Amino acid sequence: MKIGTVKIEHLAILAPMRAVNCPSFRILCKKRGAGLVSTQTFWTWEIEKWQNRVDEEFTGMDGPLSVQVGGNKPGELKHVVELLEPHADIIDFNAGCPHNEECGNKSGAFLLLHLDQLERAVKAVITATNKPVTAKIRTGWSPDKINTAETVKLLEGLGVAAITVHGRTRQQLFKGQADWNQIKLAKELVKVPVIGNGDVFSGPDAEHMMQETGCDAVMIGRAAKGNPAIFHKVNAWIDDHADIQRDLRQAIDDFLEFTNSYHRIEKDRSFTEFRDQATWFLKGFRNIKAYVDQIWSAKSIDEIESIFGKLRNT
Ligand SMILES: Cc1cc2nc3c(=O)[nH]c(=O)nc-3n(C[C@H](O)[C@H](O)[C@H](O)COP(=O)(O)O)c2cc1C
Repeated sequence: MKIGTVKIEHLAILAPMRAVNCPSFRILCKKRGAGLVSTQTFWTWEIEKWQNRVDEEFTGMDGPLSVQVGGNKPGELKHVVELLEPHADIIDFNAGCPHNEECGNKSGAFLLLHLDQLERAVKAVITATNKPVTAKIRTGWSPDKINTAETVKLLEGLGVAAITVHGRTRQQLFKGQADWNQIKLAKELVKVPVIGNGDVFSGPDAEHMMQETGCDAVMIGRAAKGNPAIFHKVNAWIDDHADIQRDLRQAIDDFLEFTNSYHRIEKDRSFTEFRDQATWFLKGFRNIKAYVDQIWSAKSIDEIESIFGKLRNT
């Protein structure tokens, strides 16, 4: 698949995730076979928080990289895109975030209720860059306001290079099932690539989504948290129907590799974020509760690393 001029080698893509997709995590997902990785959203109104950290946010080792921006005001969006685009292969526009803060700032999923404002914002982003611009949407605000069809046609008309459809409404947040029929509908209506998103947790899920909706690629969010190997597994399933099981040893090695990058490139990131990552990598494995408890009471990165070292030697 190609998004504009950017070739995507594998069809499973890492979803944008706040407080998850740090550079070390993106690099690891890329190494484990993600076809494209994404940053979390750079919101225009948070610029004071992130603009002094732009260099730390990018390493050049995780390409192709989609850099996600969000906001409502054209002038601010233009400024943000100009700051970030040297680091991006693709600029993605967030029109799906369901949370009160973002919707209160007339951004994210709020724009699905106000397509004139979505149009103005996406036009500003497209005008500010020569890189391909994509958009990530939900199916609408609420069950009675589903407007995938109208939204994807509008976005295609504006010139986006691909559209990700998360098959939930804003009202659903992350609850209930994603409606893959809306992804199918989008695929039938536009010629640009459609990336399906919502409830892909395994290779068979990815295959079903592609078969049922005709989508060009699948985006994986929650199932990738602490589990970059999911991309290898999904690729193996799609290529050969090879069923690779999740493996504690692999998860430990992945986390130690993540830690190595962390030491090199993210020295001043928050410890709690690192500790969260450590617990996510161990989620779902049995008979390791004592180690997880130790991680929760650890006070430093080194301490967590040595807990993983001990676990590796058991
Ligand atoms: C912790 C977390 C953070 C997220 N942050 C973002 C974000 O910054 N931008 C965005 O477009 N979506 C964000 N999302 C939504 C995901 O990109 C994705 O659309 C959603 O999780 C559905 O996919 P899944 O069923 O594979 O998890 C986030 C989701 C989670 C769980």
